[in-house]
Amino acid sequence: MKIVHVASEMFPYMKTGGLADAVASLAGTLADSGHEVAVFLPGYRAALEHRDAVGAERRMRLKIEMGDQFLSGDVRVFSPRPRLQVFLICREEFFDRRSPYGNGERDFEDNADRFIFFCKGVVEALRLGDLQADVVHGHDWQAALLPLLVRDAERRHGVTLAVKTVFTIHNIAYQGLFPRGIFARTNLPEDLNSMDGLEYYEQINLLKGGILFADRVTTVSPRYAQEIQTPEFGCGLEGVVQTREHDIVGLLNGVDMSVWNPATDALLPARYSMANLGGKQLCRVELLKRCGFAADYRGPVFGVVCRFTEQKGLDLLLGNRDFFLREDCRLIVLGSGEKHYEEAMHALAAEAPRKISLSARLDEGMSHLIEAGSDFFVMPSLFEPCGLNQMYSQVYGTVPIVSRVGGLIDTVTDADDVPDAGTGLMCVPTVESLGDALRRALRLYADKPRLAAVQKRGMARDFSWRVAADSYLRLYQESL
Ligand code: ADP
Ligand code: GLC
Repeated sequence: MKIVHVASEMFPYMKTGGLADAVASLAGTLADSGHEVAVFLPGYRAALEHRDAVGAERRMRLKIEMGDQFLSGDVRVFSPRPRLQVFLICREEFFDRRSPYGNGERDFEDNADRFIFFCKGVVEALRLGDLQADVVHGHDWQAALLPLLVRDAERRHGVTLAVKTVFTIHNIAYQGLFPRGIFARTNLPEDLNSMDGLEYYEQINLLKGGILFADRVTTVSPRYAQEIQTPEFGCGLEGVVQTREHDIVGLLNGVDMSVWNPATDALLPARYSMANLGGKQLCRVELLKRCGFAADYRGPVFGVVCRFTEQKGLDLLLGNRDFFLREDCRLIVLGSGEKHYEEAMHALAAEAPRKISLSARLDEGMSHLIEAGSDFFVMPSLFEPCGLNQMYSQVYGTVPIVSRVGGLIDTVTDADDVPDAGTGLMCVPTVESLGDALRRALRLYADKPRLAAVQKRGMARDFSWRVAADSYLRLYQESL
């Protein structure tokens, strides 16, 4: 099959969160199983500077209609592995920036233009390159215009660009909402500038376009596909999602075992497996040292790695500050994002610098070390479309403490509820319930045989991308 993915992130060229990991793993696994795969990304500075992209071929020049203007760009192509090609849609004015969406607190003002240009650039590259795809598969709001733009270009030029379109919602909280005036930049037929099209309460909602007009819609866990049809989790789009009730399916993400595998992980000071956990102890020592803690500390280590945003339940974590200050434990946090969370975390770490550590930055190496060196991984999300870190934790023998939402429900089993199958500890997303789970973690930690059994069951779970990639292939085949 010829499969085209379109996304704003792909590891290792641009990453702010799990989208990058999911796109890279899905595309890589499909290519490895014999399909021709192309991934389109914006030509960000970091992507162009990546060693894989050095010497990328400049394949074509673009002239993109945006309202009553034409904007130029070009397309560069490289191939990081057999059957996988990465296409960068380049225009310096839009993408030669350090971060993809904004500066700290605020989104870039020209994000609508940037990502409309990106989607149009993809469609034009498909047309000029005569890349007739079986499936064009867009991810999240940045690529949500693809289904509409593909069909619009086919009509205008009398060609076929894609047999089917698929759209994946990785997070319905990010919708690409812009003032109504930006509709003109899409050059789509005016009847789409309405309630049955992209209009949403007097604004333009790009995500809505992907949900309504793709041939098939997926979410990144089965549970999330159900949740977003309810007002509690639908972020205002539950009604729109319900109209696609029969075309929407939740396919669980996996773990890319070439990147996240304690037996081969080159970012760790030592490697280990279920049969020999010795290396995990060395990772713990290194982690404690890096945080400036005594390396011979014997109590429980709680790790956190996440984007600093409300979704990740940081308020619940901060609401349990007394637990971390009073109990005999260590808390190690890696994250960056909203300034007020960074400040609150800094303040907490400053109160107990010998027990609590904050690294407020993006740090791939440290994220692996925390997964490997901690005893518990804390992820009390308010909602979680899938979540990758709780799966990484289980693979690394680190017990996840998660809330009962979305993909966390689909990937973790509570060890107190189901003693012979549990792999983690679960709470509801409240300060009290998280507090209860943290205290249960202390009891589990004190019971070493039970802790070892929970750890091993997590490590034995098969989260490999093979399963996920096969589900996508079945979906593509069915839709064709
Ligand atoms: P989300 O996509 O909502 O952020 P996921 O759990 O799906 O949540 O994926 C998060 C990914 O981003 C993981 O690979 C995690 O390790 C990574 N990550 C988050 N924050 C950081 C950070 N500060 N440094 C390095 N990696 C991070
Ligand atoms: C989003 C979601 C996260 C999911 C990731 C990859 O960022 O917040 O839950 O794991 O996408 O699909």
